[in-house]
Amino acid sequence: MSEEGKIGIIGSGLIGRSWAMLFASVGYKVYIYDIEPKQISNALEDISKQLKTLEGSGMLRGSLNAHQQCNLIQGTNSLEECVKGARHIQECVPENLELKKKVWGEADKLIVDTDCVLASSTSTFLPSRISENLQHKAQFVVAHPVNPPYYVPLVEIVPAPWTEKQVVVRTREIMEQIGQEPVSLTREIEGFALNRIQYAILNETWRLVRDNVLDVRDIDRVMSEGLGMRYAFLGPLETAHLNAEGMLNYSERYSKTMYDVSMTMGEVPLMAGPQAKVVHDQLCQMTPVDKLQERRNWRDKCLTALAKLKKEINNPEN
Ligand code: NAI
Repeated sequence: MSEEGKIGIIGSGLIGRSWAMLFASVGYKVYIYDIEPKQISNALEDISKQLKTLEGSGMLRGSLNAHQQCNLIQGTNSLEECVKGARHIQECVPENLELKKKVWGEADKLIVDTDCVLASSTSTFLPSRISENLQHKAQFVVAHPVNPPYYVPLVEIVPAPWTEKQVVVRTREIMEQIGQEPVSLTREIEGFALNRIQYAILNETWRLVRDNVLDVRDIDRVMSEGLGMRYAFLGPLETAHLNAEGMLNYSERYSKTMYDVSMTMGEVPLMAGPQAKVVHDQLCQMTPVDKLQERRNWRDKCLTALAKLKKEINNPEN
């Protein structure tokens, strides 16, 4: 066992692989379990390839080399071997409530350690829904990553009403240790924080296109060439603070205007029906459906370059 201890990953898909790499980057011994044996061998092969590529491009995290990190990750067909003695278990099975409850129900019976953190990567389910029947529910928390986690470091930590405070603290600590950027919600709420904000943005972009104020290409440009440039480095509140002589001054100057504009925004649209086809067709003129993978690869290349830039800015001495 490595000095850092053991991590159990349940589910070896896209997200499970990323978590495995992140935990191994600081020396944890990682056991990755999947119901599909073929998935495990594919995952180990893919992880090895990814780590070598990262090493080649100078983006490998941690102080161990790719070979050493790879050796810390081991596949297993046994849920028991995966979770027994782990200090942190990260579940990454598909987004299906019944499946998550079933998997955690099985793991719950195998866990003896009261210090172990039980974390789900769920993007949408409240932690109380997944954990309500667990014996170890006080140790349960959501740790929601953002894709691709290696380059987009945010993790939302969301407790259920019965989650012990110490579990949130320990989850935050381990996320910081592996180089992620955690935020801790004080209570569970639908959509957590990231999706609530994302939906607010989507709602307004939808209304502006629907009302023929801007077409799809231009509304997306408002984000990619405007707001997004700042938001890669600063949040909206600090942006406001800097855009005046502090927040109090910003509030004096703009609160009335902001309120009046916000009152014109209209109801929450249902993003479906004929308008969805209009938006889809315009998006396809920018990126046809058969070119989506190419565009995803381009996006990941951009994110890699941005992550590199942010690293250089934050650690100028390295
Ligand atoms: P995926 O479909 O790539 O991988 C899921 C893996 O779980 C598969 O390898 C599958 O064989 C395995 N699995 C299925 N049933 C299982 C069981 N009973 N026991 C063990 N393994 C089992 O899914 P992905 O994208 O990795 O998502 C995993 C979780 O992460 C989901 O809850 C998702 O909402 C969340 N998430 C996904 C993000 C994304 O962009 N893909 C971003 C943030 C969170």
